[in-house]
Amino acid sequence: MKINLERLKNNLIELGWFGFDGNPDKEIPAGDNGITRLPYSTDYLKAEDYVRELMEKAGLKVWKDPAGNLFGKLSGKSEKGEMIVIGSHIDTVINGGLFDGSLGVMAAVESLRVLKENNYQNNHDLIAAVFTGEEGVKYPGYLGSRAFIGDKFSDKEIKELADTGVGEKELKESAVNTEKIKNYLELHIEQGQVLKEKAKNIGIVEGIVGISRYKALVTGKPNHAGTTPMDMRDDALLKASKVILEINRIVKELNGDHGRMVGTVGQLNLKPGAVNVIPGGTEFSIELRDMEKENIDKAIKSIENLEVKGLEIEEQFHEGGVYLDKKVQKEIAGAAEALNYDYLKMLSGAGHDASPMARVTSAGMVFVPSKDGISHSPEEWTDWQDVEKGANLILETVKKLDNKN
Ligand code: GLV
Ligand code: MN
Ligand code: MN
Repeated sequence: MKINLERLKNNLIELGWFGFDGNPDKEIPAGDNGITRLPYSTDYLKAEDYVRELMEKAGLKVWKDPAGNLFGKLSGKSEKGEMIVIGSHIDTVINGGLFDGSLGVMAAVESLRVLKENNYQNNHDLIAAVFTGEEGVKYPGYLGSRAFIGDKFSDKEIKELADTGVGEKELKESAVNTEKIKNYLELHIEQGQVLKEKAKNIGIVEGIVGISRYKALVTGKPNHAGTTPMDMRDDALLKASKVILEINRIVKELNGDHGRMVGTVGQLNLKPGAVNVIPGGTEFSIELRDMEKENIDKAIKSIENLEVKGLEIEEQFHEGGVYLDKKVQKEIAGAAEALNYDYLKMLSGAGHDASPMARVTSAGMVFVPSKDGISHSPEEWTDWQDVEKGANLILETVKKLDNKN
């Protein structure tokens, strides 16, 4: 039993046109300004309808939960209602690529379609899941998968969702009985260069980094840019620049101890933001990633202790680092060996829906290579042979997990 690459490829390309900002006469929606599909947007909902259609064509039972997650189920023989969830997301970053998240969703639907076509008698319910709002660009990250596992959302997070029609009630109603989730599986592009460096086509993920996001504010004094002498200014941007350089230094220094912390300032906003006014306020994001929360805490403490007047930092979001289930990793490795695929065990520096899922169930992830390690970019690319390998590995692993109690 094998997946149908031609079909999977066509479906992935069709999905990619929703939210693509570029030349519509191209063969593939890649390059130009890439794909922007923020959760709950019109393009997102159109893309979701497309996935729903595919799920129906595959013969799955389809439904959506109040948070906006979409599911397609291949019912199992067992009466116990235990499920194996195979999922990912179809929301993108701004000007994102064709594969991030979408590959995992399309591979899940394709795998279940092939099982159904082959009259496979599954024991457990097999569920293809499209989790909404994984990226955390506009709304809290891992939104859908967190709702699915019944995670608690803070008042601040619920406020951020105000324009979506999804509130506390909808999030709560979307929670399932997590004891019924036997396993979670996700195929994803690597979004880095490790596989390429090690000349492997398959990664088996051992752990996913933790992510902490903060809002920083540096306050200065807005004043006339022409009449205020250089030594009489309190320029919020100059002070923020010092903080940003220090963040880089602090993270690199901590890295010396233990390896793989990263820190990024990706958003910056000036107040009042006028060409002839000295900045009175600078607001910027700080994102820190590491497997261990302790290291993230060390970094943020050093940043908070910088001698910069008017600096305030507030934590916005935290998802802890997780190690994925060893037994599931073994099943994936066994499936890879059966398929004759060479693999590498590795950590993930990107966040995934598998992070919250791993808090409640035995979860596993498969990576396929990203060309030149590029992702969160219109240039994101994965070779079709690798897409095929990744999807076949998911199909084989699902069968193995389904045959285990
Ligand atoms: C999610 O894709 C992230 O790692 O930011
Ligand atoms: Mn992703
Ligand atoms: Mn992403």
